[in-house]
Amino acid sequence: MQTTPAPGLTPDYPELLHTAREAARETAGQGRVADYIPALATADPDAFGMALATVDGEVYGVGDWEQPFSIQSVSKLFSLALVLAHGGDRIWRGVGREPSGNPFNSLVQLENEHGIPRNPFINAGALVVTDRLQSMTGDAAGAVRDFLRQESGDPLLDTDPVVAASEAGHGHRNAALAHFIAAHGNLENPVETVLDRYYAHCSIAASCRDLALAGRFLARHGLRADGSRLMTGSEAKRINAVLLTCGAYDAAGEFAFRVGLPGKSGVGGGIVAILPGRAALCAWGPALDAVGNSVAAVAALDAFTTASGWSVF
Ligand code: DON
Repeated sequence: MQTTPAPGLTPDYPELLHTAREAARETAGQGRVADYIPALATADPDAFGMALATVDGEVYGVGDWEQPFSIQSVSKLFSLALVLAHGGDRIWRGVGREPSGNPFNSLVQLENEHGIPRNPFINAGALVVTDRLQSMTGDAAGAVRDFLRQESGDPLLDTDPVVAASEAGHGHRNAALAHFIAAHGNLENPVETVLDRYYAHCSIAASCRDLALAGRFLARHGLRADGSRLMTGSEAKRINAVLLTCGAYDAAGEFAFRVGLPGKSGVGGGIVAILPGRAALCAWGPALDAVGNSVAAVAALDAFTTASGWSVF
């Protein structure tokens, strides 16, 4: 049933979030917490939170929406945004913008495609983005962290050093990707620096509340929380387009089918989704499906857009 209010009335956001939480509850027992990064394996598979931040500054939440979790690949949304804001279109010389149809940590396409990763959200592409952000700012992870702090208003938001060390200690695939990209001349910084800063931004701990607030600039067509402009409306539209086509890896089609919004997932179980012109959402549940997307978060976002009738389609 749709609960979209008549024009002029404030939508019943708490009711929509309640509906989403109920849908997430029905997924209890499904999926598995990521364990290829050992520090993530300790997450509670039954935790669930969801937040919504409107373009006007209202924030709503349900469940564990203020509990920090490992943002992982959700950070790639912000590293890409900052690279575009600092350097514009140059990034597209080093990374493509087509869906990969392969797992997020796959190496196979790089060989045939001359070290130019398919898109900025698979690990290979995110390493190139981190490299360029490192060149532009001197500290790619610090730039992502500071952006998240400013948009969320949480000055203590930071990298979790235990998770970062765990990633680095089990990062053979990422190291292989980075060396292969470097062999093709597509990194500006030393491989060790790029990997270190990549792990540091993936290992940032933030809550659904923080991430919904930080993602809001994409719903506001490029405007930040303080009213300043991070990027043009056209650039924000382009990020939303790449989120829609590539943000959920080789399940981007399934995510569009079920949720119908631009979104970015991470193996910590978080998903940020954008309702352009209206709000940013973040849903979180640590148990993942086989592709690496949160079972509960996808179910919650699916229920939210079904009940509200809001999607980009
Ligand atoms: O590099 C990795 O494997 C992790 N730091 C991030 C992967 C991730 O979140 C992919 N998400 N579905």
